[in-house]
Amino acid sequence: MRKIVIAIDGYSACGKSSTAKNVAKELNYRYIDSGAMYRAVTLYFLDHLVAITNCKEVEKAIREIQLSFRVNAKGVSELFMNGINVEKDIRKMRISENVSPVSALKEVREAMVAIQRKLGKEKGIVMDGRDIGSVVFPHAELKIFLTADILVRAFRRQKELLQRDDLVDIDTIVENLNSRDQIDSTRKESPLVKSDDAILIDTTHITIDEQVDEVVRLAFSRIVRSV
Ligand code: DC
Repeated sequence: MRKIVIAIDGYSACGKSSTAKNVAKELNYRYIDSGAMYRAVTLYFLDHLVAITNCKEVEKAIREIQLSFRVNAKGVSELFMNGINVEKDIRKMRISENVSPVSALKEVREAMVAIQRKLGKEKGIVMDGRDIGSVVFPHAELKIFLTADILVRAFRRQKELLQRDDLVDIDTIVENLNSRDQIDSTRKESPLVKSDDAILIDTTHITIDEQVDEVVRLAFSRIVRSV
């Protein structure tokens, strides 16, 4: 069967990662969480006190960062930065609070997009993010754009954080999601936009399983069409 590229974009906490992960599993495709890459860069910048207003410092830091995805024993893709598993650290609130300004930097985006395009060369990939269908893979065979009510998204994110023993109140999460949506959608470099050819799915009233089924159904229709 011919393999395709599936791009899943949308607002923060709409279930992009869960959907992408499960769709990849169903199709036996590779799953890449592009947001994890921007989160890892943010972790590095915070830990190394990189001033994001200083281009030279930013460029130097980017050269020092090596990112790779490795599949663990449970078949889950995990991000390593300079050989260290950063999956846990990059999901913390302090990263969510700082990631949008870092991901708005041209130097950061260029470096991440180059890695993402390399990963997608062989096709058979599901990548989620903000600019996957619009910039990274403008010719992706299937583009999905997810959206959902802000409170539903906030409660889903709170539950996720709780599972990692991170108790954050709902107002803080709503504020963070709104602020990230605002920065992500209005930044100069590759803002979050729905491409004309992306299919909009509102996940407010549907379960993850329903989201996954719908994307897999659409994927099969594209695979058949592209043969
Ligand atoms: O998907 P996420 O919430 O883990 O992403 C974290 C941040 O990274 C998000 O606020 C915007 C940025 N991002 C981006 O700019 N481009 C992408 N392709 C993916 C994420």
